[in-house]
Amino acid sequence: MAKETRGKPVTDERTEVKAPAAQDQVPEMMGTEFILRFYRLLKGASLYDRNNANIDRLVQEALQTINPFVQSQEQLFLKIVRDNFFFNNVRIPVKADRYSIFKIFSQEMARRMIGEVEFSQEMSPAALKDFIFLLSKLDEGNESNYLYVNRQLDSRGIHGVTVGKLDYLRDEDFLIDSERQKRQSKHIYFKTVNLVREVSEGIRTQKLINIRKAKHLMQNAVNSIMQDESALLGLTNIKNYDDYTFNHCVNVAIYAIALGQRIGIPKKQLSHLGMAGLFHDVGKVSIPKEVLNKTDKLSPQEWAMIRAHPVVGAEMVIRLKEWGELSARLIDASFEHHLKYDLSGYPKLARKRNITLFGKIIAIADFYDALVRPRIYRQYPYVSEKILGLMLDRAGRDFDPALVKVFINMIGIFPLGTLVLLNTNEIGIVVQTQEDPEVIDRPKICLLQYSDGEYRKGKSVDLREMDPATRSFKRSIVRTLDPNEYNIHVAEFLI
Ligand SMILES: [Fe+2]
Ligand SMILES: [Fe+2]
Repeated sequence: MAKETRGKPVTDERTEVKAPAAQDQVPEMMGTEFILRFYRLLKGASLYDRNNANIDRLVQEALQTINPFVQSQEQLFLKIVRDNFFFNNVRIPVKADRYSIFKIFSQEMARRMIGEVEFSQEMSPAALKDFIFLLSKLDEGNESNYLYVNRQLDSRGIHGVTVGKLDYLRDEDFLIDSERQKRQSKHIYFKTVNLVREVSEGIRTQKLINIRKAKHLMQNAVNSIMQDESALLGLTNIKNYDDYTFNHCVNVAIYAIALGQRIGIPKKQLSHLGMAGLFHDVGKVSIPKEVLNKTDKLSPQEWAMIRAHPVVGAEMVIRLKEWGELSARLIDASFEHHLKYDLSGYPKLARKRNITLFGKIIAIADFYDALVRPRIYRQYPYVSEKILGLMLDRAGRDFDPALVKVFINMIGIFPLGTLVLLNTNEIGIVVQTQEDPEVIDRPKICLLQYSDGEYRKGKSVDLREMDPATRSFKRSIVRTLDPNEYNIHVAEFLI
């Protein structure tokens, strides 16, 4: 594995790079730029044919990074080890807002079993084009792909670029790793549920609250989501009537962190966002359970009690000294989460106010989680696509429209845990969503087999799989199904 040699300070990568003075650029910045342009080119090669004008533009764009760099540094060497990128042996830190693009890129390379690309000479546009189409057309999962590419390049007289094998892609390693990740996430999830319960109890009985523990757990949650979004997001499928309030708070925190990550909120702020999510409903601790779980119509007094929880919560946080710098964030989150984007919600305001970013994020996470799960008074949860549709309808009134779009993209039209019917008449559960928006309707599915009166885990299939004979997809989703009707506990298949 390449050694990490961090050296120079990180400069703001948003600064436009105009002059090709590569020697002056920090490797992180050049590396990021190279990866983005190279990824766009690779993607272009799978969408367009060789003579398309877009390809020429993408080739030019990539060359603007490659050639000056090679000229000054003699070599441009990219190595991918799992989701880590090393550029001339310097590890490229992946910023949160680039996370999904880097991940797709590493998946694309991993599918082709290529882990290294090295440029050692300046390239002509024609040579780079040849190279990228060779790379793009490779078979999936063929270990000798790298030999094939290098031989082809040689025979075509293209020098100055070579590729290397993917270093680390043993299935069992991946499995072990994803199992470990799942275990870790589960641990974080249940610890957090317990913590919220403890804190709520502490507030009710006015005991001291262990805020450090909460912060620490949220930092772990942030790390876990940054490593693998799906592991913690999958756990939000846990549906539990008794612990509804606690589960709900933890889910809101998870959705909020995941959404925050996608819009590029820095890591430290993300754990604050998680805290704000955890405690957005803290004002509910004083509402009796009978009122919260009431299935009949609420009396005007009971309604007033419920509508007061944002203000009650904000006041509670003000009284608690130990929240420190977090206080303001938590107060905003509690106060704002039912206000709505156009301020038509509650509490009613005497004066206009701008809702904070955290408040807007938590409102979205809160709404989604409240509807996606069954409640005592509502036997069936809404299916996710319906809720996302509702949210889109209400974008601009109830929710920030830009955030709603990112959220929908994140949850996907078939989120983790969705029960689906396939055109092969099989049924299955979505166990992994696709990052690439173009194949968002082709997630990975765990097929369910019915035997002895119950559904059991069958094999996992990737809906992107094509049938070579018919050149069409092997399986496609026909529609979503309601797990309650089939008596299937989705969470059991996910954790
Ligand atoms: Fe609330
Ligand atoms: Fe809530």
